[in-house]
Amino acid sequence: DIPSHIASVTDYEPIARERLPADAFAYISGAAADELTLARNRTAFDALALKSRVLADLRGGGTALSLFGCDFVHPILVAPSGRHRLCDPHGELATLVGAGGAKAGMVVSTEADIRLEELAAAATAPLWFQLYVQHDRAYTLDVVRRAEQAGYRALVVTVDAPVHGLRNRELRAGYRGPKLSEFANLAGLHTTHFAHADLGESLMFGGYLEAVPVWEDIARLRRATKLPLILKGIMAPEDAQRALELGVDGIIVSNHGGRVLDSQPASIEALPAVVREVAGRVPVLMDGGIRRGTDVLKALALGAAAVLVGRPVLYGLAVAGPAGVAHVLHLLRCELEIAMVLTGCRTLSDIGPQVLWQPG
Ligand code: FNR
Repeated sequence: DIPSHIASVTDYEPIARERLPADAFAYISGAAADELTLARNRTAFDALALKSRVLADLRGGGTALSLFGCDFVHPILVAPSGRHRLCDPHGELATLVGAGGAKAGMVVSTEADIRLEELAAAATAPLWFQLYVQHDRAYTLDVVRRAEQAGYRALVVTVDAPVHGLRNRELRAGYRGPKLSEFANLAGLHTTHFAHADLGESLMFGGYLEAVPVWEDIARLRRATKLPLILKGIMAPEDAQRALELGVDGIIVSNHGGRVLDSQPASIEALPAVVREVAGRVPVLMDGGIRRGTDVLKALALGAAAVLVGRPVLYGLAVAGPAGVAHVLHLLRCELEIAMVLTGCRTLSDIGPQVLWQPG
């Protein structure tokens, strides 16, 4: 059940911390190295102020949108994340029920604990599949075919994690993740290159890079599938430009919740320059640090078409299963609607830079 004193999304985190084993909590809540980027994803949102507007007639408005051929009633999606069984025995099947209840889109991770086919069969709303390009490219293509056949509506290729981040918090808490081939979606995968170095040897430049994804993989994926292709993990406008040249259908500005390269700016800080570069040619989404409806409003004000939410969904799942997931997403949607009313926005397309307070 949902604890009755929960008022906001962040109230779930301390309860999740109590309920989860310490190593699982470290995996979910943690980020890379000193977690500077994790913190900045939040402080950058807090530093943006809003400009309230009064007495606007907002009747007939709403939060509906269409993205890559999918209709959504609000712009808040579940970000892809692995290992939901750490939070609920039904894993992503529970998350799916919660997301469906809140009418939120969901991106299923390659590293889900439930096979992508089983999730698609249980879905009540359009699902997108998040792909990690594996060292074995033929295997990777097979995963894409499975996602197509199962009815996924878009392919989200995560490009910002060719190597595992420095997960110091996980190490300190004794967290050990499964081998790649132990993930439900990656059964039988042979991994040939590992990031490991004996003393005096190179970690990255002794063979590991032979198999990591490169731009040519995106070109190949573009040729290989008719699914909308979305790149997740873009922070540099130059990379957005290159992605567009290869014909991608969308971009997700993301620093992976601070989990890969530390010392990056917040996603919300990187968003404006990417939006400028893309110049309306494809939708730009963002994630990282969304904890309030006002954060959603700020992201949309800076040009995001929609946002994704990572950790809060997992905390909701850990505390109250599907009901917790639905509650987290519902809270954010309600808060967004209140923020729209108080800034005079009738629809999502009304949300622009004018809702942000400009000093002077
Ligand atoms: C992630 N994220 C992630 N991203 C991805 O593309 N594939 C994945 O398998 C995972 N796995 C994963 C596990 C966990 C436990 C977390 C917390 C995150 C990153 C995720 O999609 C998203 O970018 C961030 O979580 C967004 O930041 P917030 O909302 O957590 O602040």
